[in-house]
Amino acid sequence: MFSPSGLHLLLALPTLAMAAIQPFSDWAHERIQLTDTSIHFRYSNSGKPPLLLVHCFPEHSRTWETIGPVLAQYYTVIAPDNRGTGDSSLSASDNYTAPAAGEDLRAIVDFLNITRLNVLAHDKGVGLATSFAIEDQARVNRLILIEYPLPGYGYTETVSSTQLYRDWQLAFFAVPDAAQYFIQGREKEMLAWYFYHGSYAGDDVVSNALLETYTRSISKPGFLRAGLMYFAAAFGDAEYFTRRINESGKLRMPLLALGGEASFAPQSALEASFAPVAADLTTDIILKSGHWIGVEAPVRVAERALQFFGNGTEIPSVDLSSLDHTIVSSSWSSREMPADSMTPMLIDNVWQLWGWV
Ligand SMILES: *[C@@H]1O[C@H](CO)[C@@H](O)[C@H](O)[C@H]1NC(C)=O
Ligand SMILES: *[C@@H]1O[C@H](CO)[C@@H](O)[C@H](O)[C@H]1NC(C)=O
Ligand SMILES: *[C@@H]1O[C@H](CO)[C@@H](O)[C@H](O)[C@H]1NC(C)=O
Ligand SMILES: *[C@@H]1O[C@H](CO)[C@@H](O)[C@H](O)[C@H]1NC(C)=O
Repeated sequence: MFSPSGLHLLLALPTLAMAAIQPFSDWAHERIQLTDTSIHFRYSNSGKPPLLLVHCFPEHSRTWETIGPVLAQYYTVIAPDNRGTGDSSLSASDNYTAPAAGEDLRAIVDFLNITRLNVLAHDKGVGLATSFAIEDQARVNRLILIEYPLPGYGYTETVSSTQLYRDWQLAFFAVPDAAQYFIQGREKEMLAWYFYHGSYAGDDVVSNALLETYTRSISKPGFLRAGLMYFAAAFGDAEYFTRRINESGKLRMPLLALGGEASFAPQSALEASFAPVAADLTTDIILKSGHWIGVEAPVRVAERALQFFGNGTEIPSVDLSSLDHTIVSSSWSSREMPADSMTPMLIDNVWQLWGWV
């Protein structure tokens, strides 16, 4: 019922100019080496204003396969895999806090010489994107946050409240040792349940092929645990967000908070959660969607994003064409590599040997 590629939906979108749509599977890949992880990202046609898309757990950058190409008609879209997910590597220091993973976003943007950009994030990605925006307010032009109350502003309260029956998995995932023990070997069953549980439409929300893709991804050694670690980090993240927002004040860029009709709703819940965080807040509900906006409502989300972001012409364009012919993964690092953190470097060299970069 939902197309894995969704391309027929793109063609149906009436408001778009008839620019060529570059399918997500044709997007270029890049990999950069950071202090304790190596980050893989995909990007679309360059030469346009930049837009960063930040995904959730248990998905990875593939979640943008429909939304990304729509937005890429106006933007140079950059879609990373967060540390410990997709084709990025694990964190050598086992740090999956929002500020640590948020620094990865800043490092990507530094690496690409981007001075100003728009950002759109979903679920766990919201914590990463918000940390990036708090630490680098001047660089984020406009921000869309979808389907996630920030820790300290609704998330942690959900984990320990009467909503526990509805969102018990948030508490379960936050105990990685136990959660890993019960999920390992049953990753696909867990994901099928999770997609069903958070959806508007039910079982058919994610195709079997896509389910296999995500299963393979979190079944790599260490990756299930890495995903769960983001949930365990939420309590420390709550302390981080409340402290930093206290120190630096509300985010000043225009911020649109979106929730799925069958998930983070009604609009008053979005307002209650984000009013203490954002000085310039708009909220809206995504109709006929639950939590999984990438497969449930990609065209509605893309349209709403374009309405909020506009065509981005107030931000400088970026030219990423030099990346096509440059080896960067071992020659660029935003920070010094500590002597006790060699694992990512070794893995990175193997990729080069295999000609993957
Ligand atoms: C995780 O990374 C953040 C951001 O760099 C840092 O502030 C924090 O201390 C780190 N936590 C641990 C346990 O290393
Ligand atoms: C970023 O700027 C540096 C210094 O000018 C340059 O060497 C590098 O190629 C640029 N990177 C990209 C992705 O354009
Ligand atoms: C925020 O600041 C107020 C005083 O301005 C203080 O009472 C409160 O404890 C602070 N909260 C955090 C989480 O730092
Ligand atoms: C971008 O939007 C602005 C404001 O709506 C408009 O003036 C401009 O012509 C648009 N540019 C393009 C290339 O569509």
